[in-house]
Amino acid sequence: MKRLSILLAACMLLGGCGSNSAPEPAAEPASAPAETAAAETDNAGSEASKPLVLYFSRKGEQYVVGVIEEGNTAVVAKMIAEETGADLMKVLPADDHYPMTYDELTEVAKQEQNDNARPEYAGELNIADYDVIFVGSPVWWGDWPMLMYTVFENNDFSGKKLIPFSTHEGSGLAGFDKKLAKACPDSTILEGLAVRGSDAQNNREQTKQAVTDWLGTLEY
Ligand SMILES: Cc1cc2nc3c(=O)[nH]c(=O)nc-3n(C[C@H](O)[C@H](O)[C@H](O)COP(=O)(O)O)c2cc1C
Repeated sequence: MKRLSILLAACMLLGGCGSNSAPEPAAEPASAPAETAAAETDNAGSEASKPLVLYFSRKGEQYVVGVIEEGNTAVVAKMIAEETGADLMKVLPADDHYPMTYDELTEVAKQEQNDNARPEYAGELNIADYDVIFVGSPVWWGDWPMLMYTVFENNDFSGKKLIPFSTHEGSGLAGFDKKLAKACPDSTILEGLAVRGSDAQNNREQTKQAVTDWLGTLEY
């Protein structure tokens, strides 16, 4: 736990780790499936003019905040949806191989990054009707979780306005905007928002204000 935490903390201070950072030891087989293996959608596809908030987030044991009932990114995603009237769509892994303990999760995530893996997500993501999509996830090892690259590559985001947001514990947006632009070259990428996961979890008013301020600057 300690060694991984130190490694990850160094990664965050440096503003993120690339895929060429030192590989971690192979993970123990992941145990305990976590969340339902299906894409969860609230009201998705109901009105074409609405934006969509498409996000990935984990509950369970998390860095800084301990065991959480609702993921940090989910908290921010819901704030965005509440404020904009957007629909919410949660990305879930097809077979939930992500452990609920922080150390194990970091190892699995690092392995996926080293392998340039494309883990499958559950169900269909019906994004066709949305012109504006907020796309959010935790920063994992200085990057989007590899699961999100599967989402970017397996869906047609062309012609859409994409607005990235991250939760993190030091890496900020970690280049989410540039990486998203590379993965979805025919989309327009608007200015993103980075929120500390611990603020999303424990300082809701402050986070809500940051979300409101950011939304006020966006033109879409
Ligand atoms: C596998 C893993 C890797 C992480 N890597 C980073 C990182 O590189 N930089 C950072 O600032 N935070 C990192 N974190 C912290 C998470 O980005 C942060 O806790 C986030 O808010 C978690 O969001 P969630 O609860 O929605 O999953 C990492 C967390 C995990 C589990």
